[in-house]
Amino acid sequence: MSSNADLHKRRQAAVPRGVSNSLAVYAERAVNAEIWDVEGKRYIDFASGISVLNTGHVHPKVKAAIALQLEKLTHTCFQVTPYESYIALAEELNKIAPGPTPKKTIFLTTGAEAVENAVKIARYHTKRTAVIAFAGGFHGRTIACVSLNGKVASYKAGFGPMLPDVYHVPFPTAFHGVSVDDSMAAIEFLFKAEVDPQRVAAIIIEPVQGEGGFYAAPPELLRRLRALCDSQGILLIVDEVQSGFGRTGKMFAVEHAGIEPDIITVAKSVAGGVPLSAVIGKAEIMDAPPSGGLGGTYAGSPLGCAAGLTVLDIIREERLLERANQIGHFMVSRLKGLQVRFPSIGEVRGVGAMVAIELVKNQRADMPDGALKEALVQATGRRGLIILGCGLYGNVIRFLAPLTISDALLKEGFNLFEQALNEVAPQALANTGT
Ligand SMILES: Cc1ncc(COP(=O)(O)O)c(C=O)c1O
Repeated sequence: MSSNADLHKRRQAAVPRGVSNSLAVYAERAVNAEIWDVEGKRYIDFASGISVLNTGHVHPKVKAAIALQLEKLTHTCFQVTPYESYIALAEELNKIAPGPTPKKTIFLTTGAEAVENAVKIARYHTKRTAVIAFAGGFHGRTIACVSLNGKVASYKAGFGPMLPDVYHVPFPTAFHGVSVDDSMAAIEFLFKAEVDPQRVAAIIIEPVQGEGGFYAAPPELLRRLRALCDSQGILLIVDEVQSGFGRTGKMFAVEHAGIEPDIITVAKSVAGGVPLSAVIGKAEIMDAPPSGGLGGTYAGSPLGCAAGLTVLDIIREERLLERANQIGHFMVSRLKGLQVRFPSIGEVRGVGAMVAIELVKNQRADMPDGALKEALVQATGRRGLIILGCGLYGNVIRFLAPLTISDALLKEGFNLFEQALNEVAPQALANTGT
């Protein structure tokens, strides 16, 4: 039997350090919201493989759909010999995407690939080149995506030159004193000082920033962006790779704002653990690029499409949108309770089950505590709970339990988290007796 230590040694020798790991724990198998490592230790999973497993690890229905597909075929390449499941899943996504305008969908494999294609489609349709993105935003690790990312360290530094004609504006974060007006004023300033709005193909935004720190775009921002885009002939791309597929209590987080985006990117939880991503957009826009301009060898694989169709059924049958809200309420109230005892928790925030805490020193928003975040990830890991950090300053912990998690496991996970806080976080003075 391999040990975690052996595997870690082999990993360090065989795999480049650029691929990071938060815990030196190696997974053997997983079921719903639990993972067992190679040494047989059990972990409660509050990471869901970075929001991929809204329907849980190896959901029996996803497993059955993949098994059935394996009996038929695994690959033909949709561009060479197309198959029905790709079309059926496109039809479903076109139906559920927000807004009345008819939609079309293309499938890819990763979130970054979906974002790349969204930008290509927007450029082709508008015959414009510039793209506006947000500080703190994350869209992937390809060159176009790192150019769109609003964070330098790790993602951009040393990998340049970046894609030209990409501009960044602040994302509203009430905790840091950045308002919707500030963001809109920055775009107006960009139009005065940097780029003619008539050259802007698209504005891309995550309705809830993921890697950036789980900051939700206020509905007002999304509505004002929609109006601005309409007035300037700019396309609004909403990146739902992390926030989509029920995570926030709606199928798409942008539904909280009640607007219709021009293009939506999805990936992660779309196919319950099988790599699959999609660009869903207004049909006229999606049809702009010519035949052969879009696609990919593995794009929209039969296994991914079979799993994707099943994921939609599971979300409906198991009422996972409602469940996301229940989980979110539980998490937020539990974390707010902990905030009273642990002043390092500067803010508790969440939309549905996309919940995070921001860790600070001296109760000051401008004093991020990245070291405490790291200590908590390790302390929870030792206790058998997997959590994930994020944030522009690396001081945010995000909670992404599968939406299929039981109440018992959810509570057990938060008990472990509380124990870890007791170990590594300073307590409020009133509770220390000093
Ligand atoms: C909002 C968002 N967009 C795009 C991506 C990139 O997805 P992938 O890692 O599958 O390329 C991510 C990944 O975390 C993401 O959170």
